[in-house]
Amino acid sequence: NWSASNIIQDCIESARAQVGTDHVILGLSGGVDSSVVAALLHEAIGEQLTCIFVDNGLLRKNEGDQVMETFAENMGVKVIRVDAEQRFLDELAGESDPEAKRKIIGRVFVEIFEEESKKIDDAKWLAQGTIYPDVIESAASKTGKAQVIKSHHNVGGLPEGMELKLLEPLRELFKDEVRRIGLELGLPAKMIHRHPFPGPGLGVRILGEVKKQYADVLREADAIFMDELYASGWYEKTSQAFAVFLPVKSVGVVGDNRSYDYVVALRAVETIDFMTATWAHIPYDILARISNRIINEVRGISRVTYDISGKPPATIEWE
Ligand code: XMP
Repeated sequence: NWSASNIIQDCIESARAQVGTDHVILGLSGGVDSSVVAALLHEAIGEQLTCIFVDNGLLRKNEGDQVMETFAENMGVKVIRVDAEQRFLDELAGESDPEAKRKIIGRVFVEIFEEESKKIDDAKWLAQGTIYPDVIESAASKTGKAQVIKSHHNVGGLPEGMELKLLEPLRELFKDEVRRIGLELGLPAKMIHRHPFPGPGLGVRILGEVKKQYADVLREADAIFMDELYASGWYEKTSQAFAVFLPVKSVGVVGDNRSYDYVVALRAVETIDFMTATWAHIPYDILARISNRIINEVRGISRVTYDISGKPPATIEWE
């Protein structure tokens, strides 16, 4: 007899039995899975949990503050926020290859996470938001069945050299079950139903070299896009939607003046499994409003385009 509260009770009891009085650390990303683990372990072991939230400067508008508000302020979870924007930007400077950028972002994340977790010297466990599909996927990739097109950094085992035991309370659950227990644990519905966001974040949505100025502009454009999708009811109708920053300049007119600024592409897709996807047929009047708002409200953008590529042959992300 499946119910969210039964599952929560089971997870809490087995987490308590596993860790006893030990201290646990968790990498909190703001995504659904790590958020649900944080809420669950907070219920189960309270003060024995410390979350590490690495703000890589490649998050969406206000995302870092929202994570702190939800967990630290509202729920009283112990969260260490590491403001690492400059470090990521420095490491990414001069690099424009998508896979190389992913590797840098993944490596720096692991470095920072290790540095921070070493400061919590009585930690014995590392909790992770592994869910059942991740278990299947990584089993498949070990037997060579999964075709690895992009290197995903947010799955995998322990960072090398860390002697922590692994705690994976969601390991047997599917995504919809994770969402249901997240809601039952009191996490905001908006967080639980948020579209997936890649580990490298805006790092792969800024084409080519990543610069702070580009990230700031992209955050604003993306926030307007999301605003209008929520307002029109289209957020729930799409599986993933986001803005992409194109580092090319295009001519426009603002009042009596000529402008010469960057271009943003909007991407919105419908998909079941993210392996294939169709572009979302968002009505023209909604697209028109989004485009006008972005060009009028975001300094540095002179043109907005809408991506009408399916997957395949295009991927969902632009890099
Ligand atoms: P693509 O672009 O391959 O994306 O069609 C399929 C799904 O995977 C996400 N994605 C990533 N997620 N690290 C992640 O954690 C990555 O490097 C990465 N690349 C793509 C993408 O957002 C989409 O949901």
